This record gives sequence, structure tokens and C-alpha cells, in this order.
Amino acid sequence: MSSAAPIGVMDSGVGGLSVLAELRRSLPAEDWLYLGDTAHMPYGARPDDEIRELTNRAVSALHARGVKAVVVACNTASAFSLDHLRARFELPIIGLVPAVKPAVEATRSGVVGVLATPGTLRGTLLRDVIERFAVPAGVRVLQAVSTELVPLVEAGQAQGARAREVLREVLTPLARAGADQLVLGCTHYPFLAGSIRAEFGETLTLVDSGAAVARHTRRVLEGAGLLNDRDDAGQVTYLVTGSAEALRPVIATLSTENGHNGGHIPSAP
Ligand code: SIN
Repeated sequence: MSSAAPIGVMDSGVGGLSVLAELRRSLPAEDWLYLGDTAHMPYGARPDDEIRELTNRAVSALHARGVKAVVVACNTASAFSLDHLRARFELPIIGLVPAVKPAVEATRSGVVGVLATPGTLRGTLLRDVIERFAVPAGVRVLQAVSTELVPLVEAGQAQGARAREVLREVLTPLARAGADQLVLGCTHYPFLAGSIRAEFGETLTLVDSGAAVARHTRRVLEGAGLLNDRDDAGQVTYLVTGSAEALRPVIATLSTENGHNGGHIPSAP
């Protein structure tokens, strides 16, 4: 595998752009091939085997395009697919785990909230990090779920009235129960940060996994001798399985909000 090859990043849609922004900050010389499986978004309410199959298909499409590693920038996909993908593909596969550890370390109230999709809440990755970090520290973890927030972010309505209403509905019980940290257990949710802050002010400190995943990806590539050592900046190519036309303005806005150019979006794989 050549170190000049791009790194694949997959998500059910645009949520992985929040991770891509951190990846690009950490690995500026790399080229990226971003695949949003928008024809099948959202993954969160689908059965386990379907999530696994869709993730497998997306990673196969990236693999067929010659990527040197894949970041599964979707919590729901990671929850059901990482072992299976690592057994199937001979390239580094990096996944997303909800950031329970830093939230447990930071909480002063001893109550931490996790906002995620039904799939992520059902998966073993979240259960494992709760058992490993929250239980021994005596920290209570409260879960909030929504299937509506991901489609709202995909529709470019992360700052809209409906997003704020849903957030109020699902997060108020956590805030009332004393949660002071909120783990964003879905890569779409960092785009809701403005709406969450508008509703909950300083009550909830938001914690996401993007920067930690970017650091981990760098370590994995370094360890495998796959870091691109050129001096100039890398490029992003976007692929979507649904309508590129519909998504173009959303990708452009979310990428710009993250300080990067939205770039060019070619057709589906
Ligand atoms: C979804 O597609 O429902 C959510 C993706 C994620 O969990 O990051």
C-alpha cells in the first residue's frame, strides 16, 4: 500500500464531516476520499445486520478506490461493524467510540449524558466504555435518543426551530437529573452544538470524539509507515450515494463552518 494513497472516511451522510475537519487539522498533507451513504441515511434506526451490510458496502467502495486506511466516521456503523471490517479488509480500520472517558473525567456532578441513535445505544461499544470508565468511577450515565436529529442535520436544519424543539425534549430530563457533560454519540451532533448551547447555555459541556479519533488515526498511520510525507496540503473528494445536487449546499456550509473548503462532489459510487 502506498503512503501517497488517500484515506477513506465513511458516514451515513454528512455527519462524518465533523470528524473529517479534525482529521484534516491533524493530518494536513493527506488526501481524503469521503463517502456519505446518503441514499440509506439514517442508519440509526435500522436493524443491526442491515447497518453492518451497508457499512460493509461503503467500505468496499472506498477499498475499491485504493484507499490506504478507512475511518468509520459514524457511531452507529462503528457499533456493529468494526470487528467484521477488520477481519475482511487488510487495511487499518479506525472507528468511533462515544467519548464517555473524557466526560467521566470532567464531570463535577457525577452525572453524564449520552445523546445517540438507537443503534449506538444498543451496540456493545457504548456498553463497554460505560463499564470500563463510568462504573468504576461511580459516575451515572443517562441516555437520550432521537431518530429525528440526523435527518434535520442532513437537511441543513441543524440551527432550525424543530432541531431546538427536539433537543429540548430529549435533553431536558438529563439536565434536570444533574448531567453536566453531554457526550455527542453521533458524528452529526457536533453540528447541533449551537442549538444545544442556545437551549442549555453552560449547563451541559459538550464532549465529542473527533479530535481523539484524529490523533488515533495519526498514530495508526505512523505505526503502519503510511503517513504521507509531502509538504503541500491534501485534497478532499466527496462521494454520495444519493443526490449530490441536494447535498451540495449542505456539504459546502458544514465544511465552511469547519474552516475547510466544501470542494467538488462527484456522483455516486
Ligand atoms: C445515523 O445515520 O443515524 C447516525 C450516524 C451516526 O451514528 O453517527
